[in-house]
Amino acid sequence: MAVEAREQLTVGLPTRRATVRLGQWLAKNLVAGDLIVLSGDLGAGKTFLARAIARAMGVSSDVRVTSPTFTLVHEYASSTCVSRLIHADLYRIGDGSEVNELLLREARADGAALLVEWGEPYLYELGGDALFVRLELSERGRDAKLWSTGPCSSALTTAWSEEVSTGFVCCSNRERRSSEPGLGPRKRHFASGT
Ligand SMILES: Nc1ncnc2c1ncn2[C@@H]1O[C@H](COP(=O)(O)OP(=O)(O)OP(=O)(O)O)[C@@H](O)[C@H]1O
Ligand SMILES: [Mg+2]
Repeated sequence: MAVEAREQLTVGLPTRRATVRLGQWLAKNLVAGDLIVLSGDLGAGKTFLARAIARAMGVSSDVRVTSPTFTLVHEYASSTCVSRLIHADLYRIGDGSEVNELLLREARADGAALLVEWGEPYLYELGGDALFVRLELSERGRDAKLWSTGPCSSALTTAWSEEVSTGFVCCSNRERRSSEPGLGPRKRHFASGT
């Protein structure tokens, strides 16, 4: 499925702490059925961000949150309004039929939130409507590029844009330094799902 081009937000992540704060913000704003596709080169920080999201969703530090490179899918209980968090890594997947076998779309429909590394080619099999988070190395460390492909994910980018006015790093290609992201949970006024 072609990814529709929409406005792209750029978030500067000069430190790992900044990435953790982005993860905390995403965790507070994820609702059942949400999909985040994490992209970027090897070592860009996809798993690091997924771990930050998982920790902020209540996954204990006793539980290792590692890249599901060989197992393909890891599942965690969440203490937020999302009951289940699924972290998948599709790097070793050969085609869409293999993605279908993982039943990720069904898990979403059942209320799980999904974080999927290397999921870009499989947006259709994942059920569409994704928040894309692309991590890139930059002169200031790392940047995250965020864009949405449907109504549920647009709620996230809209909420981010609204909260940027109160703090965090930068957006919409504008460099802007500030302190903390808004960490309050967003309320959606429409049903989530695929
Ligand atoms: N600002 C930052 N955000 C995220 N990670 C950072 C940052 N600065 C340094 N790092 C380091 O970069 C590494 C990112 O590794 P990670 O496993 O998350 O990459 P990945 O994108 O998941 O790679 P792969 O494609 O192999 O799965 C970690 O060791 C992390 O500590
Ligand atoms: Mg990884």
